[in-house]
Order: sequence, then structure tokens, then C-alpha cells
Amino acid sequence: MTKVLPSLLASDFTKLGHEIGAMEAAGADIFHLDIMDGQFVPNISYGMPVVEAISRTASIPLDVHLMTLDPEQFIEEFSGLGIDMVSFHIEATNHPHRLMQRIQQSGMKAGIALNPHTPIEHIRHLLPEIDFILIMTVNPGFGGQKFIDTCLDKVGELDAVRRENGYGYEIEVDGGINQETAERCREAGADLLVSGSHLFKSPDWQEAVRKMKQ
Ligand code: DX5
Ligand code: ZN
Repeated sequence: MTKVLPSLLASDFTKLGHEIGAMEAAGADIFHLDIMDGQFVPNISYGMPVVEAISRTASIPLDVHLMTLDPEQFIEEFSGLGIDMVSFHIEATNHPHRLMQRIQQSGMKAGIALNPHTPIEHIRHLLPEIDFILIMTVNPGFGGQKFIDTCLDKVGELDAVRRENGYGYEIEVDGGINQETAERCREAGADLLVSGSHLFKSPDWQEAVRKMKQ
């Protein structure tokens, strides 16, 4: 079943608690939390105090997307906050296999994010053990960007590799996801659809979440 993950970067931070409750009532499956350090990506979002507050308020699972250098340094804290899923960028670490194991040993699902230019070949040897793969469908750093069509090929490739080998990973897409691009991603094999600006700007959140899952 396809899952919808609202990206809280697009929420109104002055009403964060309220919007979390409303998105849950609208049928959201998992919240997507974007952590940006102003180094790996040219923007800063929010950090641990905000993640901690979200973890106290939200009742659905939380998916942290680390867009930082040295992602290793944050794992312990996320585990303590009851985070369910953590992804890091393959471009941001020299030891992705070790980091994947650390996340899993801390009781969380480990994901690897791929920038638009990064081929699947770079994570080929991690595929049997990884829990999910985050295919960036925009360049990371900002919400509200346009979906990059060429990234969709990787979703189809990963789906085919998964079938051929019986691998268990889920495929997540992130960036520029609206009803039209969501449908194309679902057809290509995506399981987890992250959506920020489209969902939060929709007049009827319940309807928007429902349509995205179909
Ligand atoms: C971009 C982030 C996304 C972003 C998606 O760097 O990783 O999660 O919030 O926002 P939209 O859906 O507006 O592209
Ligand atoms: Zn993200």
C-alpha cells in the first residue's frame, strides 16, 4: 500500500502542533522531517529541539531525512526521541554501510538518499540490507521545486532490481510531488510519497491525501 508522508517543512511553523493534528486526521501515514545544515545543502531548516517537540506531539511514525555532512553524529539522539526511520545521503558519508548498521542497531529503519545525479550503482552492495531508498526528485535544500523527470528512471530500476532479487526495501520519492507526479511515481514502483507544498497548499487535506494514495 502506498503511504503519504507530509513534509513538515511546508507547514506553518506558527501552528505546527495544530497542523500535525490536522494532517493526522486527514489520513497521513508518516511525517517527513527535513534536517538541513547549511553545508551539505544551501539552506538551514530546523534541528533537535523542534524534532523533539514534533516527537512529543505526533502520533504517527516519523521519518527523518538528514541533509547534513557528518550524519553519523545525530543517530543516537534520534533513537532516543523514538524516531522510526532515518535516511542519510550517500554523497555525505564515506562509510554508508557502517552508518546503515548503526541506525538499524539503534532500532530504526535505515534509508539512503540519492541526489538527482547519483546513479543506483553507488548503492548496489547495500541493497540487500537497506530498509528504504529515498530517491530525490529535486535537488535537496528547498521545498516548492519542480519535479525532475529523469529521476523517475531510478524508481523503475530499483523496483525491477527488488523483484529480480527478492529484496525488501521500500522506495521513497521526495521533491515536487503533486497528484500528477505522485501517480507517475506510484506506477514506477514508489511506496512512500513525500509531499510538502502541494499537500499543505491543498484546500482539502483529506481529499489530497486520499487521492495521492490511489
Ligand atoms: C527538499 C526536501 C523535501 C521538501 C519537499 O530538500 O527534502 O522533503 O520538503 O517539498 P516539496 O514537496 O514542496 O517539493
Ligand atoms: Zn526530504
